Amino acid sequence: MYKKVGSILLVLMCALLLNFQAAFAAQKLPDVVILATGGTIAGSGATSTTTVGYTAATVPVENLINSVPELKKVANVRGEQVCQIASENMTNAVWLKLADRINTLLARDDVDGIVVTHGTDTIEETAYFLNLVVKSDKPVVIVGAMRPPTALSADGPINLYNAVILAGSKEAVGKGVLVTLNDTINGARDVTKTNTALCDTFRAPELGYLGYMQDSKPHFYKESIRKHTAQTEFDVSGLTELPQVDIAYGYANNSRVMLDAAVSANAKGIVYAGVGDGSLSTDVKAGLIDAQKKGVVIVRSSRVGNGIIARNGEANDDQLHFVASDTLNPQKARILLMLALTKTTDPQKIQQMFWEY
Ligand code: SIN
Repeated sequence: MYKKVGSILLVLMCALLLNFQAAFAAQKLPDVVILATGGTIAGSGATSTTTVGYTAATVPVENLINSVPELKKVANVRGEQVCQIASENMTNAVWLKLADRINTLLARDDVDGIVVTHGTDTIEETAYFLNLVVKSDKPVVIVGAMRPPTALSADGPINLYNAVILAGSKEAVGKGVLVTLNDTINGARDVTKTNTALCDTFRAPELGYLGYMQDSKPHFYKESIRKHTAQTEFDVSGLTELPQVDIAYGYANNSRVMLDAAVSANAKGIVYAGVGDGSLSTDVKAGLIDAQKKGVVIVRSSRVGNGIIARNGEANDDQLHFVASDTLNPQKARILLMLALTKTTDPQKIQQMFWEY
């Protein structure tokens, strides 16, 4: 009799314990690390109406976190200052340091997601670089602001709040690196800055947002089908530099002078932002052919900003051993080409990568 009652009590206690654990897990806030790099989100202006002509990258990460007390209600946040720069000064060296730190942090059980605060001018490039080299399905969210924290209606605090929620969310797991500003969620591959000053500047023109941030929740409607993060072949751990790749821009009356300069400066790859569908003037074509013969890998992209660069369309890529950039804009094509060059210089293999990533 006593034995039976004892067993029933034991079962009841176990059930209670399991319930308690489940309730605790459901309530536990996600652990999110904020890696700060600078930008307008950490900037300061002379007056509350200074929305241009302010100084970027002056506010340290601890102050950014403390300025949004609501963060503590949605995540356990802690910050690290990776660098303090305006994002026009972003370098490959900082990218490698950032990737290394993110991969180290995401390998830990006590980190659920990462937020990177960043200047908006090159945010799309850092996002795409991380999208190709982070080795985890855990969320990585890049956030910036178009107005400094000192401005009336500064957008940084709400953007940071949304970014922390997104980085701690189950919905963002496995979606690749995300960019959030102005209540939108964009994917790293397709997002670009479309306006020099408006808060509503980050878009993936034609391909569209992945979703919205509303009411302290992410709402996803689609995801990129291109390979990213843990699915890629790129491993930058231990690298201290990346192959030099330069971009040359197409325009009327264009000559090969920029291409020759890049070759003289030892470029291993050139992305040509051609007119239209990546078209090449006669002089530019001759310059690219000479560069290719010297071992430089050539990617044809476009200054248009939308649409597919047709392989063997405006140039015979097969014959010239060129690569077509698919829909990647020149600045993103540069990143994929740098990473591709860490694996191979074969233009056919690199073309395959442009179709996969
Ligand atoms: C920057 O990119 O660092 C300055 C501009 C900005 O963050 O909006």
